[in-house]
Amino acid sequence: MSEKQTFYITTPIYYPSDKLHIGHSYTTVAADAMARFKRMTGYDVMFLTGTDEHGQKIEKIAQENNVSPKQYVDHIVAGIKELWKLMDISYDDFIRTTDRRHEEVVQKIFKKLYDQGDIYKSEYEGWYCTPCESFWTQHQLKEGNCPDCGRQVELVREESYFFRLSKYQDRLIKHIEEHPEFIQPQSRQNEMLNNFLRPGLEDLCVSRTSFKWGIPVTFDKDHVIYVWIDALSNYISALGYLTDNPEKFHRYWPADVHLVGKEIVRFHTIIWPIMLMALGEPLPKQVFGHGWLILEGGKMSKSKGNVVDPAVLVKRYGLDALRYFLLREVPFGSDGVFSNESLISRINSDLANDLGNLLSRTVAMIEKYFDGIIPPCSEETELDSELKQLALETPGRVEKLMDELLFSNALQEIWKLVSRSNKYIDETTPWLLAKSESDGPRLGTVLYNLAESLRFISVLISPFMTRTPPRIQEQLGISSSGDTTWESLKEFGRLKAGSRVKRGEVIFPRLDPEKELEALEALRQEKLQEETVRAAADKAEKEDSDSRQAPDILPEITIDDFAKVDLRVARVVKAERVEKADKLLKLTLDVGGKSRQVVSGIAQHYSPEELEGMSVILVANLKPVKLRGILSEGMILAASDERGKLVLVTASEEIESGSQVR
Ligand code: MSP
Repeated sequence: MSEKQTFYITTPIYYPSDKLHIGHSYTTVAADAMARFKRMTGYDVMFLTGTDEHGQKIEKIAQENNVSPKQYVDHIVAGIKELWKLMDISYDDFIRTTDRRHEEVVQKIFKKLYDQGDIYKSEYEGWYCTPCESFWTQHQLKEGNCPDCGRQVELVREESYFFRLSKYQDRLIKHIEEHPEFIQPQSRQNEMLNNFLRPGLEDLCVSRTSFKWGIPVTFDKDHVIYVWIDALSNYISALGYLTDNPEKFHRYWPADVHLVGKEIVRFHTIIWPIMLMALGEPLPKQVFGHGWLILEGGKMSKSKGNVVDPAVLVKRYGLDALRYFLLREVPFGSDGVFSNESLISRINSDLANDLGNLLSRTVAMIEKYFDGIIPPCSEETELDSELKQLALETPGRVEKLMDELLFSNALQEIWKLVSRSNKYIDETTPWLLAKSESDGPRLGTVLYNLAESLRFISVLISPFMTRTPPRIQEQLGISSSGDTTWESLKEFGRLKAGSRVKRGEVIFPRLDPEKELEALEALRQEKLQEETVRAAADKAEKEDSDSRQAPDILPEITIDDFAKVDLRVARVVKAERVEKADKLLKLTLDVGGKSRQVVSGIAQHYSPEELEGMSVILVANLKPVKLRGILSEGMILAASDERGKLVLVTASEEIESGSQVR
């Protein structure tokens, strides 16, 4: 027997975050679909994912949480593995950059590159913020100050190791020009050549002494290996490169494809191939830079509060609806908008209407007209052979598109068969055939072909959707695993006549778009609220444990900055408690004859009665927000101390409401 061909696919390794969103799942689900497809079509597949756990940022977060960096990442990584389990990600290995097996390989790579002169010691120059203990480049500064805290930074030099990227630049340009498939899609290849490689590369800083949470340089203990050398090596450390057991490396390297988001194409097509060239190893066959999932305007990011939690969506719509949506909605190389509307509409049109209906109609008719027994197929008409032909041609088309990572197009090909089958029902009108005794064999043929077409569809979708195929096959009464393989799609007519169908639940119930949108919005609000409460509790805890001192004065502002805040005297006309919110009061204020509504968190310090008639100070031009569903048009000023005492700032003498405070 000839050896199976190998296929090695990777995702990027993820930064540990407890908020992996649907954008992260996008890369992983795509890699998973590809891995499943290749396994199904006979390859020996290695599918790698993992986590990228070192760096100053993690060190800092861990410190803030009073845990060690390792404790912190262990906790987060467990959550990431849970998410991949939920998404049915069939990875063959999960590499963590904190695995000893990884650290050892990275140290050997670093030493080897140093010994051969590709890494050398020099000085790194950057801007340092002492309170934040962070380095910044000139470019990252905000108005010359630290972008994190706004304080002054100083120019410092730090001893660092550098990697000679420049030495390999011409070889890399040549490789890219000679291998147009290396960087895909094509547009990203042009970007790399024109924007980075041809203008010339600068050597890369690859070590740091300003933090400890990294892999130590073995021959210079003050240094830890910085970011990309550590992270990129995962693709070969997981294969046992430079270890006593390099069998997997020999078997799977070079990788067939690294799937990465477009913002990290640069690292994968410049630093990584140069590292490999310097190590004398072959380059990956392809780096594919996919687009981003965009949610309402920006790249999805947790800071904008527009994250979509995959766990919430899976719970509500099932895993397959989400996997299908991710792979179908957006062509893989392009950016695409994620919206609740588009998700619901895809589920309704493609899954409930097209696929779901095809199955339920077919099974229902076999039950109704043949007592649930799949009838035999007799002579063929042109309509039948058209359907059969399409079914037999679809696997080849899908394979070709998958080889180009065109997931959405591959699914469209499969859906052509779904649509053709639905159309076949309309064309053959089984309900009319059922009326005449003599059309019995014809009716049998039609229903047989539909069931067989559904068998094809169930196999074709199985790399994309993991739960639905067995459900379809169960309803079709398929019991032999030989009828669910890729090989079995070479023959139209394998489905056994005489076996019994089993009507089951509707595979994709139709959704009411309006109700769903409301429900999703409510879920989003709930989650936001939960996060706000949690953040407040964390902050309170931290403040409590910090020394009991008034907080530091904020960075300086100019009189112009201050002038942007419009402060007014406002008279409290009415104060009411807010239902189910023991901290909030709803205030009706008079501001120079105009009425304003403000929700204020002072209910535990003031009763509504004592507020009425008081002259308070209002931030009058603050953007309105809704608190517990109630509109709040501004904020009233109060002072609070570290013990939790709170007093309102008021006008010390009678003055017109609406007067400016300066
Ligand atoms: N740790 C680095 C990768 C090192 S690989 C040697 C990293 N991690 S990440 O967690 O920030 O991102 C992981 C992947 O998720 C990237 O490919 C990134 O493009 C992808 N995505 C993150 N948000 C995304 C979207 N909104 N849409 C699509 N993909 C996105 O980068």
